[in-house]
Amino acid sequence: MIEVKHVSKVHRQGRLEVPALTDISCQIPTGSFTFILGPSGSGKSTLLYLMGALDEPTSGSIVVDGVSLQGMSTRERDQFRREQAGFIFQSFNLLSNLTALENVLVPFLPNGVIAGQRRKAVDLLDRLGLGARSEHRPNQLSGGEQQRVAIARALLKRPKLVLADEPTGELDSANSVAILKDLRDLCREQQSTVIVVTHEHEYIQPGDHQIRIRDGRVME
Ligand SMILES: Nc1ncnc2c1ncn2[C@@H]1O[C@H](COP(=O)(O)OP(=O)(O)OP(=O)(O)O)[C@@H](O)[C@H]1O
Ligand SMILES: [Mg+2]
Repeated sequence: MIEVKHVSKVHRQGRLEVPALTDISCQIPTGSFTFILGPSGSGKSTLLYLMGALDEPTSGSIVVDGVSLQGMSTRERDQFRREQAGFIFQSFNLLSNLTALENVLVPFLPNGVIAGQRRKAVDLLDRLGLGARSEHRPNQLSGGEQQRVAIARALLKRPKLVLADEPTGELDSANSVAILKDLRDLCREQQSTVIVVTHEHEYIQPGDHQIRIRDGRVME
């Protein structure tokens, strides 16, 4: 369970203060598929980054499985991000000089990749229909294929929490539906909690959770 308790976030740019979230409270059950919906600028990405400990609230707290992210040391937060959270960004964030397979293995490169991880990365790419493309670099892949590489990279460590910021933002609708389905299937197998920011209401299925925000406040 993720509990967002009276969270406010003010972005500071020099002397300018932009209130992005104002007294937000909501709960996300473990194992759920949750959408964060709302107009552009409403604070969706800000909320997602706070839940993944990529940023810190100005006030309030975020409690993940009973542990407050704000109560953690920097080292504990780093560990949380590295071991428990998998991020999928709209812009894929792939490294252009690495192959698809290497990009999937990026989180493991600092400590050296063991054979088991490499095999799992190959399996994941295969499951996502990229078995034949693992040696291609990002500029040799379509947008949908690059997004699948980013999904494989996020899921390889079997994160308890998957955070996706408009993962289909730059794709056509057929590709978007396919990506969402892949994400659902893989996360169900891994029993991950998934939080997806989107503008597209058509991806919502019965049983999904929804958090609708507007002007930095939860509407429902
Ligand atoms: N680093 C930042 N510095 C200053 N203001 C910021 C920063 N990040 C976001 N904001 C502002 O905070 C508000 C919420 O931004 P956020 O990115 O969370 O919106 P969003 O709902 O994800 O929008 P979109 O759908 O366009 O991605 C906006 O007014 C935005 O301009
Ligand atoms: Mg955003």
